[in-house]
Amino acid sequence: MGSIVVSKSVLSGEVEVSGAKNSALPLLAATILTDEEVILNKVPHLADVETMFDILRTLGKKVQYDRDSGVARVSGAVDKAHVPYDLVRKMRASFNVMGPLTVMLGEASTPLPGGCAIGVRPVDYHIEGLKKLGFEIFFEHGEIRARVGKKDEFVVVHLPFPSVGATEHIMSVATLLPGTTVIENAAMEPEIVDLQDLLNKMGARVRGAGTSKIIVEGVEKLHGCEHTIIPDRIEAGTYAIAILSTGGEGQVKNVVPEHLDALWSVLERSGAYVKRGTNYVYVKSPGKWHACDVNVLPYPGFPTDLQPQIVVYLSTAQGTSTVTENVFKTRFAHVAELVRMGANMKLKDNTLIIEGVEKLQGATVMGTDLRATAALVIAGFVAEGSTEVTQVEHIFRGYERVIEKFRGLGGVLEYRPGGVPEI
Ligand code: EPZ
Repeated sequence: MGSIVVSKSVLSGEVEVSGAKNSALPLLAATILTDEEVILNKVPHLADVETMFDILRTLGKKVQYDRDSGVARVSGAVDKAHVPYDLVRKMRASFNVMGPLTVMLGEASTPLPGGCAIGVRPVDYHIEGLKKLGFEIFFEHGEIRARVGKKDEFVVVHLPFPSVGATEHIMSVATLLPGTTVIENAAMEPEIVDLQDLLNKMGARVRGAGTSKIIVEGVEKLHGCEHTIIPDRIEAGTYAIAILSTGGEGQVKNVVPEHLDALWSVLERSGAYVKRGTNYVYVKSPGKWHACDVNVLPYPGFPTDLQPQIVVYLSTAQGTSTVTENVFKTRFAHVAELVRMGANMKLKDNTLIIEGVEKLQGATVMGTDLRATAALVIAGFVAEGSTEVTQVEHIFRGYERVIEKFRGLGGVLEYRPGGVPEI
């Protein structure tokens, strides 16, 4: 595994955001629901997207991708009913392929997703929801096998927690099953709305995405279409926080500002200047910023995928902040690494108490997952001296051209594949 060496830098200027990873993945999985060609625009070039392409190709789909234009063309019928372990273990989101595959082939199987650095991530809500839709589900040898069964004319699936993945999975599958499906306590993330928009362009009848109640009227068949993926709000938030954490100012472009209202309000409470444009946001650091209390919640609450990054921002704020994580209660692997850099923070249950410090110090730290690694790179720009973030490849799973984009903001960083200096 390689590392990124980061030096203290003030980040300023402009950065353009790519298409959303967490939209690209479920939308690509949904292409299984038709044999016709689906064209997706603004598909980011990321390791996770390549994994989804590999899964679709393994299942029999034809995938063409132009990484420069970000256009993906997916066509053809699936003809394999099993998702290989070596692909599923790379990426949990691949589990959402199982339902569409089962609907198209009548029966399919996939390995149960394993452990994850950000916490225990079962798929019981997915399974219970698919059973409600008449699926017969069998567990054997670490695998889940599913078979389409009889679905009642009117089904209500009430999710115990507004799970993004379970909402996307059940919504996609219900499009081709008879009768009506109602998903209650559904996740309301913008990526769910993007998936509804794609499915409806494919001829589905889905409404209510973006609210806690989604209604799907089943149809016989879906067809091809063209769709442009929404901007990546987590990437946008990451760059805005990075700019402000280093005392800089700049414009984050290709953003839907209201997708991040929870973030902008925290940053404004800390004293930062935030200007929302039509498709950009301009942020300016106040030089010194106040401590804040942050409650991480499902959308429209403060996103868990920006939690490690806001912890870095608050680590040098004036005063005592708290960050309470209510989505992945144990998502704090970045804390010990930040303490190694001189941060002063303590965990009490799922609340982090942060005493702002004057400075962070450069150190060698370890990336554990995608967002924690991004947060450590930001901490490297803030810290005195230089910081080496090891096990850094996580970051390429979710940030397109990240080295180039940070350099575009004046960041001093170098990627060392396998730990050796860049030539
Ligand atoms: C999606 O994961 C995102 N991934 C995650 O982003 C994001 O952190 C998460 O939603 C929350 O916003 C993608 O979109 C590909 P959940 P998902 O189901 O769908 C529990 C990133 O960095 N739960 O909403 O897996 C679960 O354990 C990634 O880009 C069950 O208990 O998240 C968690 O505590 C990381 N049983 C909570 O619900 C289930 O069957 C929310 O999980 C499903 C979920």
